[in-house]
Amino acid sequence: MLLQLDGVTKHFGGIAAVRNVGFEADEGKVLALIGPNGAGKTTLFNLITGALEPDQGVIALKGQTIKGLKPFQLAAGGVTRTFQNLQIFNSMTVLENVMAGAYLRGKKGFLRSLFSYHGWCKEEKMIREKSLVLLEETGLAETAGRPASTLPFGQKRLVEIARALASDPCLLLLDEPAAGLNSEESAVLTNYINKLRDRGTTMILIEHDMETVMNAADKIIVLNFGEVIAQGTPAEIQAHPEVIKAYLGEDEKIA
Ligand SMILES: Nc1ncnc2c1ncn2[C@@H]1O[C@H](COP(=O)(O)OP(=O)(O)OP(=O)(O)O)[C@@H](O)[C@H]1O
Ligand SMILES: [Mg+2]
Repeated sequence: MLLQLDGVTKHFGGIAAVRNVGFEADEGKVLALIGPNGAGKTTLFNLITGALEPDQGVIALKGQTIKGLKPFQLAAGGVTRTFQNLQIFNSMTVLENVMAGAYLRGKKGFLRSLFSYHGWCKEEKMIREKSLVLLEETGLAETAGRPASTLPFGQKRLVEIARALASDPCLLLLDEPAAGLNSEESAVLTNYINKLRDRGTTMILIEHDMETVMNAADKIIVLNFGEVIAQGTPAEIQAHPEVIKAYLGEDEKIA
């Protein structure tokens, strides 16, 4: 398995946002994290990316604890995320946005590049080519030279995902990627997630849109008030009484 959480707990003041959470994310699979607003989903992403430290418990990546590692170190090690409230560079072009993701894992640091201009140019060219391929794949190639601010919302989401992919992540964390997308855009996104999985990218997906979750996830973890209340395949989760209760009250069914 790629990622393992065991007994992870995080408090904010007196509130346990995440309580004794344990699960595993298998390599090359899509794991979905679902649960009502405030259930602790984004907090878990903040813990997995090193933006927050757990009060208790262990988070291990490829069998090694991530304790003490900062977000930039985990990003350089291949843990990349997108944000619930879209974070793209509006004044940069679409292509520049995607290229920015690749520099996270570029081999030449800035200082070294000063002494090796040739090496830097070569790397820059590779990054540009790779970013253009990602724009092709996400259907954004024609927008490459436009300021990112001019794109419609659904395409901005795709820019953020392409930027995350430009760093060649071993673990990609997507925080509500379908939020604000229409059903056509969500279907494009679901296809793309499935394509990435087929190529071996491990993903954790936080998503409220059940159609996207059911069509993309191999396994689902359900959180409520910071705790895991159920985990299983999409079919198991759809029929799980605790989940139905947490989402809809009794005697209902998830669409
Ligand atoms: N930095 C913070 N400081 C204080 N409280 C926080 C902080 N981050 C999250 N919380 C609280 O922790 C709980 C879990 O929040 P979190 O954002 O993880 O939920 P979520 O499952 O992502 O919800 P949503 O579906 O609305 O995005 C909430 O009660 C929230 O108010
Ligand atoms: Mg959230």
